[in-house]
Parts: sequence; structure tokens; C-alpha cells
Amino acid sequence: MFVLDLILKKRNGMKLNREEVEYFVRGYTNGDIEDYQAAAFLMAVYFQGMDAEETLYLTEAMLNSGDIVDLSEIPGIKTDKHSTGGVGDKTTLIVAPVVASCGVPVAKMSGRGLGHTGGTIDKLESIPGFQTSLTREQLIRNVKDIGLAIAGQTGNLAPADKKIYALRDVTGTVENISLIAASIMSKKLASGSDAIVLDVKVGSGAFMKSMDEAEKLAKMMVEISRGAGKKAVAVLTGMDSPLGMNIGNALEIAEAVDILKGQGPKDLREISIELAANMLMLGGKGTLESCRELAAKSIADGTAFNKLIEMVKRQGGDPSVLEDTGKLPEAPVKVEYIAERTGYIVQMNAEKFGMVSATLGAGRKTIADKIDPSAGIVLLKKYGDTVEKGEPIAILHTSRKETIPDALGILKGSVLIGEKPPSEVPIILGTIK
Ligand code: URA
Repeated sequence: MFVLDLILKKRNGMKLNREEVEYFVRGYTNGDIEDYQAAAFLMAVYFQGMDAEETLYLTEAMLNSGDIVDLSEIPGIKTDKHSTGGVGDKTTLIVAPVVASCGVPVAKMSGRGLGHTGGTIDKLESIPGFQTSLTREQLIRNVKDIGLAIAGQTGNLAPADKKIYALRDVTGTVENISLIAASIMSKKLASGSDAIVLDVKVGSGAFMKSMDEAEKLAKMMVEISRGAGKKAVAVLTGMDSPLGMNIGNALEIAEAVDILKGQGPKDLREISIELAANMLMLGGKGTLESCRELAAKSIADGTAFNKLIEMVKRQGGDPSVLEDTGKLPEAPVKVEYIAERTGYIVQMNAEKFGMVSATLGAGRKTIADKIDPSAGIVLLKKYGDTVEKGEPIAILHTSRKETIPDALGILKGSVLIGEKPPSEVPIILGTIK
């Protein structure tokens, strides 16, 4: 077999068989296929697409390129969640302790920030002492003992995805439904849980900009999960505006704590309860409606917050910063972003806010960049709010004063102020089972 034949076949819109997809994944992962040919192949896939069968072959080839974590020694239905990536999306920090405190074990492997989107591991590392790298044995022991662990990927999960994703990132081939579905599902299936809730983000701050594309992606991922014998549900959620009021690592920890203490913004609470309820339902705790009540109760009676404290202690972190979030790393520089006119906020471009947060130090441009845990944005206004000319819309936080001019430059035009109130948009847009 020659890789050029595969490039031509896909470029001409033909379907690849299992052996051909496996040949590409194996060859690129072990270095036999060069970047330039892999890039051409991915671009052909980007334009011609893959059908459900080809996407399954790709997922399985990437899944089988590395370790598959065996969680079978943990009793119960282990549940996992995955977000396709958003801005201000700190739901894992809320949902995982809620679900674990209701008796469904969560062994969660999370990632770092990517582009304009944040990552749970970077957020948790703003808790002094918190260990995100656990061995497989530590992860299993923690879940057996307290029902919850959140760690960076243990072992060598889906190395083919790592390599292919890095190439997609620099060749304009990220936003393809089959490539995204196979990338996410190869990692999820490798991490060993029995049931998966997928939070598929839709809107300006998401990879999927339209509902139609997001639905296709959600259906494809649910089908792949089922095909692999895992229970799965996808919840479609809005990502036109940032989620919640805080963006940035320590700032997002503080907001997650607010929700777990029964406070915090409505949109974040609503999504968190919905995702947790779906995980609890897949974990066998009852109907979706009764699971929503269970999740809300675990927040109201403090058991979910106590579970987060237990996890932080167990993974070496200082729990006092959760009891008093004023002790989390705080930025020395705070600059207001001011409204240029009076009216209603009719648009708040989530992607731009994500880029600003990364520019202030909350994200990385290269893998070697160091994160500033205190950097980010606190929104004072949200979509639909009224604002007066000269009033602050947001406060930028950073330890790196020199980033402020760039950050304000990106923000220009990212908030539209209109004369009439915009229509209300629901945050939960649908569910695919
Ligand atoms: N997240 C992933 O892990 N992979 C993609 O392709 C897109 C988002």
C-alpha cells in the first residue's frame, strides 16, 4: 500500500476501507509517513468527509495506537464527561464532585487548555500543591476510596491522536466532524469508563458554529460510543457567549466553588445540573428528572462541595483556598474594559474573550509557555444586560502588565451594544441519546 494512493482515493471522494485507515494511522504515528503527506491526506478528509464506518475505523485505529485503561476493579458504573471545548467552561470542577457525591464513581482524565479554550488540568493546578499527574494505580485507589479523581492522562492514551491533532492544529484541518469525533472518542474510549456524557458546544466560541453541524457531531460520537459498548448521551449547549462570569484558571476555580456553595451564575448552574443529571442517569440513579433533583440536593446540602474538598486533600492540594477563595492566586494588575455606548449587550464573542484570557497569561501559545494562574477576565455584564456608556463590562486580570494593550485590542468589537434587548437564548439546546 502507498500513502499517495490513499490521498488520491480520498481526494477523489472515495471511501476508504479499514486496512487503508489503519495503514495511515500506524504509518503516521510511527514516522513512516511524512508530515506533508499526512497533511495532504487530512485536507482531503476535511473536504471530502468520512462516513460513519470510516470514522469508526479511524477512531479504533487511534484508540488501539496506545494503552487502554482498565477500570474494571472499581465497582459500579464509572462515568465520564467530555466537553468539545468552550470559554469559561469549568463544569467538570462542579459536575465531577456532584456525581461522585451521589454515589456514581468518576475517574476523570482531563486535558490542558487548547487555543482559546481552557483545560481542567491547568485550572486545578492553580490550587497550591494539587497533583494532577497520578499513576493508574493511584487513580484507581482514589476512585475506590472516595469515588473521585481528576488527573491528566495517565499512561500513553491514543498517541496517534496526539500526533495527528498537533498536525491538524497547524494545517487548518481541525473543524471536520469525523476528525473531531474520532479524536475525542479515541481518548474517551481509552480512558476506560463505562458511560460517557458529551457536552457538545455550539456557537462562536465552539468548534461547531451551527446547530446542524453540532447535531451531526453529537450523533456520530454517541453512535461510536454505543458501537464500543458504552452508554452515551450528548447534551448540546450554547457557546456564543462565555459560560458564567469568570474566565481563567484560579478565577474559574473560585466560580466553581460558588456554584457548589449554592451561589454563582444561572447559566453555569443550569448546564452543570443537566450534565450531572445525565451522568447520574447513565450511572443507574433513576430518571433524568429525579437525577436533576439528586444533583441539586447534593449542592444544597453541601455534600458535593465536601467531595471536592476531599479530592483536593487526597491529591495533595491546599483545601483552605476553597474554603476561602480569596486565598487563590490573585492578579496584581486589574484593568477595566469600558462600554463605548449605552444600550443592551446583544453579542459577546466567546472566542475573542477566550483569546484575550489566553493573551493575559491564562493560556499558552506554545506547549512550553508557563501559565499565569491568576490571569483571566471577570465579566460584570452578560448577554442581554443593559450598560451605560463608560460603565465597565469586564475586568482584565494579569501579572503581565505588558499584555494589556494586546488584550484590549482583541476585545475591540467583541461586544456589540444595541438599542433593543436581544431575544433570550436557552443554554441547553438539545440532547442526543
Ligand atoms: N477536542 C479534541 O480532543 N479533538 C478535537 O479534534 C477537537 C476538540
